[in-house]
Amino acid sequence: MKKIVLLVLLTILYYSCNNSKSKDYSAFEKQMEVNDHPGKKLMETNCYTCHSPMGSHDDRIGPPMVAIKKHYINSETSKEEFIASIQAWIKNPNAEDAKMFGAVKRFGVMPKQPFPEETIEQIADYMYDYKIDQPEWFEDHFKEEKGKRKGKGMGHGKMKGI
Ligand code: HEC
Repeated sequence: MKKIVLLVLLTILYYSCNNSKSKDYSAFEKQMEVNDHPGKKLMETNCYTCHSPMGSHDDRIGPPMVAIKKHYINSETSKEEFIASIQAWIKNPNAEDAKMFGAVKRFGVMPKQPFPEETIEQIADYMYDYKIDQPEWFEDHFKEEKGKRKGKGMGHGKMKGI
């Protein structure tokens, strides 16, 4: 009888160890997945000229991508809706449809440039699913709003709206 109990205990131990290992592994995999996502590179090449997270708050050409994400995604926005709204903006950037009034005022409306639809789809897909690099000053800039959201969800939804 004792032996059986021991065996059961060992089995449980074995599986629980295994589980925690696979958790680590999936975190690692997730990181690899981020780096592999084609949208990341496309965004960095096509959009970071103006939307880079680098540079100070005062010396930039456009808002950082993380700020754009914040204005375009709330807790109800589906990925399809988000991709569609980014596509619409890229096809026709104009002051009336702009959601970022402050940015329009400060930088002027984003210049229209032709981007293939697939490129924008990949970029928007990446923006929706992953945490985007944010500039150092961003945290302070949006501290108030961020505070309100704290603790809502993990993982996928964690950066939603930011
Ligand atoms: C030549 C500079 C430049 C490039 C390149 C650029 N943008 Fe912009 N973008 C801007 C500026 C400036 C603004 C802020 C003014 C505005 O909102 O129109 C902006 C704003 C935006 C907005 C918010 C619009 C709003 O106000 O609702 C989105 C979305 C956007 N850009 C997406 C992109 C994507 C995606 C790319 C890459 C495929 C990109 N931009 C490349 C300059 C640029």
